[in-house]
Amino acid sequence: MPSFTVFKGSKEGKPVKATTTKPDELTGDKCLIKITASGLCYTDIHYKTADMALGHEGVGVVEAVGPDVKQLKKGDRIGWGYQHDNCGLCKLCLTGQEVYCPERAMYGYADLDQGSFGSHAVWREAFLFKLPDELTDAEAAPLMCGGATVWSALTSYNTKPTETVGILGVGGLGHLAIQFCAKFGCRVVVLSGSDRKKDEAMRLGAHEFVATKGKDKLEVSQKLDRLLVTTSAQPDWAQLTAIMSPGSTIHPLSVSGGNFTFPYGFLIEQGITVQGSVVAPRQIHKDMLTFAARNGIKPVIQEFPMTEEGIQDAIDKLEKGEVHFRAVLKPQL
Ligand SMILES: NC(=O)c1ccc[n+]([C@@H]2O[C@H](COP(=O)([O-])OP(=O)(O)OC[C@H]3O[C@@H](n4cnc5c(N)ncnc54)[C@H](OP(=O)(O)O)[C@@H]3O)[C@@H](O)[C@H]2O)c1
Ligand SMILES: [Zn+2]
Ligand SMILES: [Zn+2]
Repeated sequence: MPSFTVFKGSKEGKPVKATTTKPDELTGDKCLIKITASGLCYTDIHYKTADMALGHEGVGVVEAVGPDVKQLKKGDRIGWGYQHDNCGLCKLCLTGQEVYCPERAMYGYADLDQGSFGSHAVWREAFLFKLPDELTDAEAAPLMCGGATVWSALTSYNTKPTETVGILGVGGLGHLAIQFCAKFGCRVVVLSGSDRKKDEAMRLGAHEFVATKGKDKLEVSQKLDRLLVTTSAQPDWAQLTAIMSPGSTIHPLSVSGGNFTFPYGFLIEQGITVQGSVVAPRQIHKDMLTFAARNGIKPVIQEFPMTEEGIQDAIDKLEKGEVHFRAVLKPQL
């Protein structure tokens, strides 16, 4: 009987160790995974007070496979992300938009008994991704949500390499978006609260860097064709209109409550597209791993132990904006 450790949220917002027990036999295409690394995404912060297992940037090794598993075998290195299942039959599933399937099983509201903070998990083979050799377990973990999300926003909506693309917020998502956009051939403009992250943003591939705090009016040397918003809170949308080209696209990616409030006249008169996006369909996710491996794209990571204290420390640092640039939890051997 697979019984394993998970780390759950709690009313006080502290990670607590617990045990999950799964049925004796692995059924269908389920695989038992031994977790070797997990990223900490800002979305985990939204669930830290929930009674559920935390973590959705998982990496591990296949330990056992169910009777219908076709490709994976014991010992394979795999990763998984935010989505664990969908119906596989609806129009959205059949047209590559499975992340919007009405029956999607996603972090936060399905499979609450297991996550990527823990010792093991049991997932369907169909939702696991084989990892390229070029990436270590710790490097692959942040790609499972953060990397997949920005890559999908960038590649699912016809971005051209000739575009000037803005990245707002240099955190887990943002620092990967800079690298993907730069390797894609785009001109990359990074907008960050202060100058603190300038050198690193330029090293990762930015062509221009703008510090936003305290500025009434934003200025860039060339207006943006596209903007990926990767801040952990919604930005001042009205302020951003000054740097958007006519006909440009804004991708709000931040998870945030409240409404989207945007200057209506600007939207109409300048023909602006607002395109939301959530994580990545599986083929896009696979393409992202291939592209990252081929182009040497790797997250900048800070490792923490996969213990109650280690997770708490990583959460505290993420909330204070002190993580450089993605926290990765590693089980203690
Ligand atoms: N759409 C999706 O599918 C999806 C997937 C994953 C994550 N998300 C969401 O994407 C957002 C970013 O996640 P992340 O893991 O990259 O977070 P993160 O590592 O904390 O990065 C967010 C960045 O936003 C800026 N920031 C911090 N506090 C802020 C505030 N109060 N107001 C405005 N900006 C602030 C900081 O960048 P600077 O210092 O450069 O200003 C920070 O590094 C979160 O809201 C997360 O929930 C969405
Ligand atoms: Zn479906
Ligand atoms: Zn995430």
